[in-house]
Amino acid sequence: MVILCELPVHSQKEAVIEVIICPTAESANHLVAQLIADTVRAKPRAVLGLATGKTPEGVYERLATLHKEQKLDFSFTTTFNLDEYLGVAASNPQSFRSTMDRQLFSKINIKRENTHLPNGMASDLESECAAYEKRIMDAGGIDIQLLGIGLNGHLAFNEPMSSLTSRTRPKSLTPETRAQNAPFFGTLDQVPARAITMGVGTILDSRWCILLATGSSKAEILLKAIEGPMSAAVTASALQMHRRCTVVVDESAAAWLQMKEYYRWVFATEPEWAPYRSLVTAH
Ligand code: PGA
Repeated sequence: MVILCELPVHSQKEAVIEVIICPTAESANHLVAQLIADTVRAKPRAVLGLATGKTPEGVYERLATLHKEQKLDFSFTTTFNLDEYLGVAASNPQSFRSTMDRQLFSKINIKRENTHLPNGMASDLESECAAYEKRIMDAGGIDIQLLGIGLNGHLAFNEPMSSLTSRTRPKSLTPETRAQNAPFFGTLDQVPARAITMGVGTILDSRWCILLATGSSKAEILLKAIEGPMSAAVTASALQMHRRCTVVVDESAAAWLQMKEYYRWVFATEPEWAPYRSLVTAH
């Protein structure tokens, strides 16, 4: 299979938040991986914004498969991750750097020097955050930003009441977020208290945001983020003012959405989605 669609780079579609409801988490993962793959094929020097957490694992697995089976080439690709824990060394298996190495970078032909995460051990945090913003700008900005959503509505580690114009900075994690991440560390006590995170404003500067949410635990917060009022209390709601945001969900995560039938109709009728329809129903 080659490029399913040239939409990622060439589409003029702007000022829209679209929701694509997939029958299963697997089909949602496949769709998101295909959108990223098509971006990389259409623009080999694409800059990808990446996320960690349970949600994107299936996407990374699929991208590794596309690299192996279809020679998807990442040799010119650059990546920037959303965040990193403070006080956790890159070599620590729980760091987001190690997680990305394990789940994706070691399985594709990306150059290590082209993969970027904030340095959680930086002694001068202000300089580290400013340098991270500059590195993104120097790379030409992010073409496609993969996002998950926290149970409290956070985007990256932009916890509730983060400014919707915030930039990369250190952030204290809420008890809820630390509890959500405890399974990765074993116990709650071991979850770091702080992280460096891209700001909401940094994320909104990406040319295309893709929010992936799967599972019933995300249904209530997804309703608030997508169809509720825009509010710093639910930082993911800032995506409502993004110039181009695609929300990919499975049926369980979509359960509380009020406009489901409209979203289905848009996906079934918009010409640009035609190449992706069979992919969504195949899994
Ligand atoms: P999850 O986390 O993918 O592990 O659910 C998402 C997030 O907190 O942003």
